[in-house]
Amino acid sequence: MIFRGSIAHFPKVSTSPKDDIVYLHDGAIVVENGKITAIDDYKQIQQTFPSMPLTDYSGKLIVPGFIDSHTHFPQTEMIASYGEQLLAWLAEYTFPTELKFADKSYSEKMAGHFIQQLVRNGTTTALAFSTVHAHACNALFSAAAKRNMAMITGKVCMDRHCPEDLQDTPELAYQESKALIEKWHGKGRSLYAITPRFAPTSSDEQLQALGKLASEYPDVFIQTHLSENKDEIAWVSSLFPHCSNYLGVYQHYGLVRKRAVFGHCIHLQDEEWQALSSAGATVAFCPSSNLFLGSGLFDKQTADKYQVQQALASDVGAGTSFNLLRTYGEAYKVSQLKGQAIDPLQGLYMMTMGAAAALELDKDIGNLNPNTFADFVVLEPHFNSLSTLRINDTSDCADTLFALSIMGDERCINQTYIAGIAQLGTNKTVEEPVN
Ligand code: GUN
Ligand code: ZN
Repeated sequence: MIFRGSIAHFPKVSTSPKDDIVYLHDGAIVVENGKITAIDDYKQIQQTFPSMPLTDYSGKLIVPGFIDSHTHFPQTEMIASYGEQLLAWLAEYTFPTELKFADKSYSEKMAGHFIQQLVRNGTTTALAFSTVHAHACNALFSAAAKRNMAMITGKVCMDRHCPEDLQDTPELAYQESKALIEKWHGKGRSLYAITPRFAPTSSDEQLQALGKLASEYPDVFIQTHLSENKDEIAWVSSLFPHCSNYLGVYQHYGLVRKRAVFGHCIHLQDEEWQALSSAGATVAFCPSSNLFLGSGLFDKQTADKYQVQQALASDVGAGTSFNLLRTYGEAYKVSQLKGQAIDPLQGLYMMTMGAAAALELDKDIGNLNPNTFADFVVLEPHFNSLSTLRINDTSDCADTLFALSIMGDERCINQTYIAGIAQLGTNKTVEEPVN
């Protein structure tokens, strides 16, 4: 199948997305067996593949599927819960919600809702926290696998400072995580992330067990939280007096490396930035969450200075939207307050190729190069009367993306493709896949 439209992507790793974007005003991609096999100007593609069927998205913008580098699947239902900062918010809303996932069938139902929200918003890959329950992690992998969706998730590990029914032990955390790695990691498009929630909810023994597991599986992901809130940081320093800073706790237990993704990273010291950079780890910038919980303003300039890999993330349910374009819009506002505006092409990079490269997945996703999976999104610049006034023939790719990021929501997602299969039905319904 040929897909025609305006096309934008970053074919290679870039430190200057403005210079490295490829934009085809009247472009086309060829999709065969779930993969992209060609990308070029439409005229060229038409000549090369004269009898191939066409889906015509002229007037719309095709970009790679979005990658959400830090989110929480069980928190879908508690998005927009009022009035607390991080530690009180966890106790008041998050832990009670996650307790409901002790019920396996509830977990399965909510995994379906989560994936529906992702695809409605153009997200084709997520690095998602599950709950402490192994069956919830299984539920998310299963729901994603039915769509052939690249999902990275892991069972949350916590053995203290949370309700007893959400606690595992060092041994259980190790054994259950290991069994889930064996069951899912690298099977189809599923990938596993070792998931200590954050330092305060894991004992030394548990972090040690997870460090051992990480050393046994050098290519699995690691996801956790780092330096989000000032009270949290003070708590970590009282719990781990032998570590010189927050990142030092994760370093001590061998949890800082490539494919380790640290959510937030707002209040880091220079040594922590340096250590993240040297390790090739990734920070997930979660602007809507950081504003919502009043956590602080991410310092992108310092992250850039230390050449730390960065990806954009929703952090639902502290984050206020599943939509990564909108999340970039919030990142832009944070960057304005810091006096360091992030341009929209940088934003697109951080939700596509930048994230894929940071996660070492750019051979498969994050761009529209031949041989990658056909995970892509069709954006509708004219999703309402105001966007029709604002976005016109004089708008270039950056301007269109910017306006959509500030004004848009799931209405600007015309279609989401995963491995070449359209996910949205009429009226944007998301059907359960049948296989
Ligand atoms: N820190 C530890 N757990 C969480 C969580 O669920 N959300 C956020 N935003 N921060 C956390
Ligand atoms: Zn989070």
